[in-house]
Amino acid sequence: MRDWARHTTGPYGLELLEGGHFALTERGEAVAPLLARYLRRDLEGAAEGSPGAAADAPPSALIRDILLGGLRGRRPALSTDLTTLEDAAREALEPHAYGYVAGNAGTGGTGRANRAAFDRWQLVPRMLRDSSTRDLTVRLLGQRLPAPVLLAPIAAQEVVHPEGELATARGAAEAGLPLVLSTFASRSLEEVARAAGDAPRWFQLYFPADRALAESLVRRAESSGYSALVLTVDAPHFGYRPADLDAAYSPFLRGTGIANFTGDPAFRAGLPEDAGDAGDADGLAVVGHWARICTDASFTWDDLPWLRRLTDLPLLVKGLLHPDDARRALAGGADGVVVSNHGGRQLDGSVAALDALPAVRAAVGDGVPVLMDSGVRSGTDVLKALALGADAVLCGRPYVYGLGLDGQRGVSHVLRALLADLDLALALAGCPSAAGVPAGTITPSGPLPTVSEQDRTQR
Ligand SMILES: Cc1cc2nc3c(=O)[nH]c(=O)nc-3n(C[C@H](O)[C@H](O)[C@H](O)COP(=O)(O)O)c2cc1C
Repeated sequence: MRDWARHTTGPYGLELLEGGHFALTERGEAVAPLLARYLRRDLEGAAEGSPGAAADAPPSALIRDILLGGLRGRRPALSTDLTTLEDAAREALEPHAYGYVAGNAGTGGTGRANRAAFDRWQLVPRMLRDSSTRDLTVRLLGQRLPAPVLLAPIAAQEVVHPEGELATARGAAEAGLPLVLSTFASRSLEEVARAAGDAPRWFQLYFPADRALAESLVRRAESSGYSALVLTVDAPHFGYRPADLDAAYSPFLRGTGIANFTGDPAFRAGLPEDAGDAGDADGLAVVGHWARICTDASFTWDDLPWLRRLTDLPLLVKGLLHPDDARRALAGGADGVVVSNHGGRQLDGSVAALDALPAVRAAVGDGVPVLMDSGVRSGTDVLKALALGADAVLCGRPYVYGLGLDGQRGVSHVLRALLADLDLALALAGCPSAAGVPAGTITPSGPLPTVSEQDRTQR
């Protein structure tokens, strides 16, 4: 029933009744035929064993489902090669929207480095290990996840789809993967929590230049069921992004991506009395106030313990590349770190996140949660990150392209494809458990060491 309720978004009200019935509470005549069509398609899908029909099927069952669908003339609406979604999004989205998501800092060097790093590492599959079943689950911060994948915090998602983060939250909930909601979301964290229902969700914090507001955001996240806090530290200022600059485009200055602020009592307390909403002409005052306090560029490691004392939620620090910064994060009270260069959007010419990962893992030691993102585009990318020391990865742009191309269905497609690819990669590499990928699963590209060389290095 909850699954069907996703078909009644926007202005259509749906009330769940007892006994599996439901009632349309608003615009019933308009929406009933549409809903009936959706439900028929869902039921046909379930009967035919289409994707998602069997809840206990392994993620790679998607492959069988797609190929069987082909016998009935069906094809996936979006490509299963997630690297191609960027091109599809370029065709489909408004240029400023595409530029906002795809754009990188400066010459794009960091973005290219992220992908090149994945190409420099190669998997060394091992044979004849029982791969008849795989276990993708991982434990992270005391929570069990169905796979080592979360949805990265991405600001202002209404830029690519009118339902924005609500559609993303529903897509994430279908997969059971946590959405990390951005401070700069285009829907409030309370609205997104309602859309996510029982599904796990984390909150990403940009530390604002107003401690009362920081505290208010954290308290709201706690009371809306967000189960971890991710402090992003690599964006005290927006990066130099030519795509946005050439289009003279910022979603935030147009009132998109500030929903967590406009209704916040601590934020409103700092506004001039006559300030309107972000969308009005008076909204300029709101946006101006937001721009002044949205981040605190003077925040340092010395301030981290203040945030640590504020909440009992598990705390991760996101946007680290240097191993010493990872140590400082832990010393300041963080429970773990996210190795990331913001997908190449902040500092051009940075080290690739994947290349920073092994040093960070070595610095913090085993047992400390280390996540990574920036450049993850396939299941084998996830496997490489796990082999280099990550406990889980964050999927970023691919799901936002999915959202822009096909709303909630597009988000679901991306997550299902990524997990199918990962499931199969684990099987083919001879690593049946995502939580226990041996370091020897990966090697720098080039010839493998000979047996005698291996002996020599081991001696
Ligand atoms: C359009 C866009 C908006 C983003 N907004 C945020 C944000 O609000 N908070 C944050 O911590 N990271 C943000 N990021 C960075 C992502 O969380 C993640 O680090 C990045 O997307 C990983 O790179 P990839 O998508 O190329 O794999 C954003 C990234 C993009 C593409």
